[in-house]
Amino acid sequence: MRLLVTGGAGYIGAVTARRLREAGHAPIILDDLSAGHREAAAGMDLAVGNFGDRALLADLVVSKKIEVVVHFAVSSLVGESVLDLGKYYCNNLERFLALLDVLRERGVTRFVLSSTAAVYGEPVVIPMDEEHPTRPTNPYGETKLALEKTLRWYHAAYGFSSVSLRYFNAAGATSDGALGEVHDPETHLVPNVLRAAQTGEPVPVFGTDYATHDGTAVRDYIHVEDLADAHVHALEGLEERGGASVFNLGNGAGFSVLQVIEAARRVTGKPIPIRKAPRRPGDPETLVASAARARNELGWTPRCPDLEEILETAWRFARAHPRGYGA
Ligand code: UFG
Repeated sequence: MRLLVTGGAGYIGAVTARRLREAGHAPIILDDLSAGHREAAAGMDLAVGNFGDRALLADLVVSKKIEVVVHFAVSSLVGESVLDLGKYYCNNLERFLALLDVLRERGVTRFVLSSTAAVYGEPVVIPMDEEHPTRPTNPYGETKLALEKTLRWYHAAYGFSSVSLRYFNAAGATSDGALGEVHDPETHLVPNVLRAAQTGEPVPVFGTDYATHDGTAVRDYIHVEDLADAHVHALEGLEERGGASVFNLGNGAGFSVLQVIEAARRVTGKPIPIRKAPRRPGDPETLVASAARARNELGWTPRCPDLEEILETAWRFARAHPRGYGA
């Protein structure tokens, strides 16, 4: 299939675009490189621009004969979203509406959305399946939930077929060490912990008073290549499934911040000092997936579910790219 991959120079987008190509698809990346990296799209068909640019988008859709859009390009930092609402509503929602509008005009009605566990908010039951109440605790999750709902209405009104993939916490790097997690500034736990292993600077632990077994927040870490694989599966059945479906993508195992740091100490052999810090605004206490629906209906099985193995791939990447891409 000829695919437009928005945000395909970002962390999950780049790994997925490459995986889609390996699976026989023809991905064209659209990325404004505001958060993505040209190096992460090396060797791929890359158009530099913003997905909210209607003229550029219409031109790409027509000239590249796009059949499906795989949409990664959003602002995606939980903490930032609480403080910078305009950015999140504009980048994530307003531009998304422009994107859908152009697609509808051009007859492209198949869509894969990179969604998030942040749509759930505080857990009512653990693990969370797709029927868990959706009460986001931050504007990032709120905007993603709005995107999912918009896709449902686009199905009802215009016959769009879509799948929203609710990622839990993406982590790790590709097995060849070429693609990994690089953000500027880096706010995510795994790269920050590995940076602390390299520099000896303490890593902040945001919140030590949660009602979890050790007081720190619990997340379900899923290897980025397993997320990428799920897109291949989701695309395969998209036409037949129709409608607007939603799938969780996680391993179903929760690890606290302190457990991740402990696992990283074992993987790196470094002491990794910590600094206790207040909770980060908008962070839920625990997010752990039930991904039974994705396993049963998409035939998806994570190939690297072990936290230490996930960290090993991230550590290989961090050592090879101590200052990010190009370094
Ligand atoms: N954390 C620290 N120290 C750090 C960085 C993070 O203690 O230096 C904590 C956070 O406060 C949180 C946990 O580690 O409790 C995980 O934080 P991340 O920033 O790595 O990931 P988030 O859970 O905030 O968010 C990620 C993605 C979102 C996605 C969410 C779904 O960034 O896009 O997972 O669970 F929605």
